[in-house]
Amino acid sequence: MCGIVGYIGKQQAAPVLLDGLAKLEYRGYDSAGMAVSDGATIRVTKARGRLKVLNELTHGGELLPGHCGIGHTRWATHGIPSDKNAHPHLNESETIAVVHNGIIENYLKLKKNLEEKGYHFSSDTDTEVVAHLLDYYYKGDPLDAIRRVMHRVEGSYALGIMFSDRPGEMYAARKDSPLIAGQASDGNLIASDVPAVLKYTRDVYFIQNEEILCLKEDSLKFFNIDGEELAKEPVTIQWDVSAAEKAGYEHFMMKEIYEQPKAVTDTLSPRIKDGKIEIEELNMTDEEIRQISKIYIVACGSAYHTGVSAKYVFEGLARIPVEVDLASEFRYRDPIFDEHTLLIVVSQSGETADTLAALREAKKQGVRVLGIVNVVGSSIAREADDVIYTWAGPEIAVATTKAYSTQLIVEYLLAMKFAQARGTVTEDTIHEMIEDLKKLPEQIEMLLDHKEKIQRFANRYIAAKDIFFIGRGLDYAISLEGSLKLKEISYIHSEAYAAGELKHGTISLIEEGTLVAAVLTQEDLYKKMISNMVEVRTRGAFILAVTVVGNTEVEKAADYVIYIPKTNKYFTNSLAVIPLQLFGYYVAVGKGCDVDKPRNLAKSVTVE
Ligand code: M6R
Repeated sequence: MCGIVGYIGKQQAAPVLLDGLAKLEYRGYDSAGMAVSDGATIRVTKARGRLKVLNELTHGGELLPGHCGIGHTRWATHGIPSDKNAHPHLNESETIAVVHNGIIENYLKLKKNLEEKGYHFSSDTDTEVVAHLLDYYYKGDPLDAIRRVMHRVEGSYALGIMFSDRPGEMYAARKDSPLIAGQASDGNLIASDVPAVLKYTRDVYFIQNEEILCLKEDSLKFFNIDGEELAKEPVTIQWDVSAAEKAGYEHFMMKEIYEQPKAVTDTLSPRIKDGKIEIEELNMTDEEIRQISKIYIVACGSAYHTGVSAKYVFEGLARIPVEVDLASEFRYRDPIFDEHTLLIVVSQSGETADTLAALREAKKQGVRVLGIVNVVGSSIAREADDVIYTWAGPEIAVATTKAYSTQLIVEYLLAMKFAQARGTVTEDTIHEMIEDLKKLPEQIEMLLDHKEKIQRFANRYIAAKDIFFIGRGLDYAISLEGSLKLKEISYIHSEAYAAGELKHGTISLIEEGTLVAAVLTQEDLYKKMISNMVEVRTRGAFILAVTVVGNTEVEKAADYVIYIPKTNKYFTNSLAVIPLQLFGYYVAVGKGCDVDKPRNLAKSVTVE
């Protein structure tokens, strides 16, 4: 998704912008640009391609002198990736520069209107209407012009704006697209995400919907859409700068795979006190928990896969009916709610447009919404009735790993807490489960210690055309995730199937040598899985099995076996996912893919 950085202060702006934009590269982009004011004129350089291109075009920023500037990395929505569609966009007299994240939904109508007034457009973007609309309304008062524009545009936006006749000022505004401001010792910054400013400051303001910000070298002023000044307090970010960098690993993804034991510990241990589950953020009484009639879990991608897994855990432990929905589908169906329905939304970024829309739809209908979110202060975190954070830290790689693992942990804890409140499990069972949970970080480490074995196996499959993942019950949920991990970064076609469903069509795709990864961690489904493995093996498949240590019988039905340590049956996904993440990673590395930034994908999907 697009990235915004703005700087006003004592330093030359362009190098600060390039540096900040580099920290936002993980969001995904196809072009980049900067606008810098030298006090009289705004100069713009922008180009399709990576930041390297922008760096070269501006000689590391030297060709854009000035102390006030806005920069942008664009992920195309309106108009193809191209130089002309890259941001910043200007008005015709080149006195106003704009960078924008989000979508102006009524841009065609506004564009037509502006064209009728004599304005000419030079790009296909929705953003350019903002530059021309600002021009139309600007009569020497930036705040007034921005407010008028905000009243005209529909959709989502985070905006960075400069006016050439206001050289000591920069402006920003937001609605439904993330934007923060940072207060540094030698100036002030705006950015679409915290890592962009961490080098300069830890004091960060989260800009809320329909707020406007005026930045000067030594001041930050916030206004609402009516132009009234607002008092805001900064939040001190605790992350270390190095936490947002690769720390010696070849890719962020591998670094984040290795951070999982810590991420799981950080998410789990503060919530286990004196052998009991205590989720401070859960503002629900036991009585309210007992009254829950149904849970919807709504999310996208890997977050959705944790929901598929959690369904088994909630239903099995707490005996509450659970429906799991893709957020993009949920918002367009007509789900049945009652006053005791609970909606759980799961999101790493907390900004996923479909998940956010589902949350809003449910809230509109009076449903209580609980968010499981990684990014503190994100839109979903702010708008949910209750939010439980996954303390995974910043996740940079597009393919999620540690956020996925911590989402599972929160879901286990919630299911156990609900089961306790409803009296559907004994205290002894909860106690045993807590002990198993506490072992997970160490067990994940043990699995990571065997990464070379998986690397050797993965190297044999870098030329594969199709790879299938099969499992039953909870193992189907893990198959979904294993398949997504592989395909999103290696570009190998892959599908996950409920193993019993194979013979209803998919089995016709199995050819001599096709790799089928079979996950069988559930004791009650073990024998059935062996039968399904035999079915595909007799049709030529090569079987990789992931099972629990001790299940040696599987070796008769599989060609290659990876064992995971013993744990509670509800927690096996937390362990089985590790070899599958490593497998996807090593196949992608072996193929020379851009592992951290796979083509066509963005880390945070803030458009529908
Ligand atoms: O930020 P979110 O958790 O809401 O993102 C949801 C999906 O976009 C995300 O999990 C996506 O599927 C990842 N690329 C998976 O690795």
